[in-house]
Amino acid sequence: MKILVTGGLGFIGSHTVVELQNEGFEVVIIDDLSNSSENVLDGITAITGKKPVFEKLDLREKAKVQDFFKRHSDLDGVIHFAASKAVGESVEKPLLYYENNLGTLVYILQELSKKERASFIFSSSCTVYGQADKLPITEDAPVKKAESPYGNTKQIGEEIISDTCKVTPSLQAISLRYFNPMGAHPTVKIGELPIGVPQNLVPFITQTGVGIREKLSVFGDDYPTDDGTCVRDYIHVVDLAKAHVEALKRLMAGDNEKNYEVFNVGTGKGSSVLEVIESFERVSGKKLNYQIVDRRPGDVVSAYADTAKANTILGWKSQSTLDEAMKSAWEWEQKSRTN
Ligand code: WQD
Repeated sequence: MKILVTGGLGFIGSHTVVELQNEGFEVVIIDDLSNSSENVLDGITAITGKKPVFEKLDLREKAKVQDFFKRHSDLDGVIHFAASKAVGESVEKPLLYYENNLGTLVYILQELSKKERASFIFSSSCTVYGQADKLPITEDAPVKKAESPYGNTKQIGEEIISDTCKVTPSLQAISLRYFNPMGAHPTVKIGELPIGVPQNLVPFITQTGVGIREKLSVFGDDYPTDDGTCVRDYIHVVDLAKAHVEALKRLMAGDNEKNYEVFNVGTGKGSSVLEVIESFERVSGKKLNYQIVDRRPGDVVSAYADTAKANTILGWKSQSTLDEAMKSAWEWEQKSRTN
């Protein structure tokens, strides 16, 4: 079975390529290298012993996408990670986000719709829920008005897929709503490579731990949570990657009752910012330098997944604890600084 992984040299994409290869899938990667580097290919190959085919390609160029699908007419499915993902940047550059996250999705779905049968997995996000009324969050929680163009592209992306599946029975699709991915592969050969100042909590913590950042700013400790800091569902990136393989196997086997389904992918456990800091201090043996500052606009108070649907229907469950995920993130950070 031959699978295209778009954004396959990125953080979640590269870990998913490893798990696909481990399961015997043949993988082709498209990446525009805007938020990744080609030497991630070496890391993947070092782990699995199999070098995936890689094509540098900007998916916004429709003709190039059409040409790619013509040359790879034997593709069985696509896992679509390629997208811009910085919430703050999306507010400043909405059109870049709508073009890159949605235009490319349309081009890929147009090509898949021409095939006799195709499997498609979409990288969605718990962002679609906004601040959910009920916790843990189930898949039928209402999708709230997005707080950013980035979040909007995930909501609209899901609608585009749903509408397409309604009139394209040959297209079998699943959207995976990620909670907060973190960590790195246990071999320490691939991991997160944030460009510039990390927006996300965990890479900022590990960069502070190695001394690249002077201190972590904790965005508010006056929220209505146990310790006043925001709660999120931090999932090990390898567990997240494995959820993609289980979802793909479901589609390939034709086990899905409907040709479009949505699954939450998280641990089902909420952790506060302070608890994540404590996890870092436990696994690193270092004290983290941080200060409490004002809240960050757009942050939701608490978000963690009800994972029953993925557990029962996909037969998937996250395996790693917060400390195991944090340990992998810390080992990766330290290794990345020695190279
Ligand atoms: C987590 C918590 C911050 C940085 C976003 C996107 C989501 C997905 C993951 C792409 C929050 C706090 C953070 C810092 C802090 N992105 N924090 N100091 O915002 O939950 O989710 O990233 O797929 O779609 O919305 O993740 O890591 O930015 O923040 O206190 O320097 O850490 O306030 O409570 P978030 P995050």
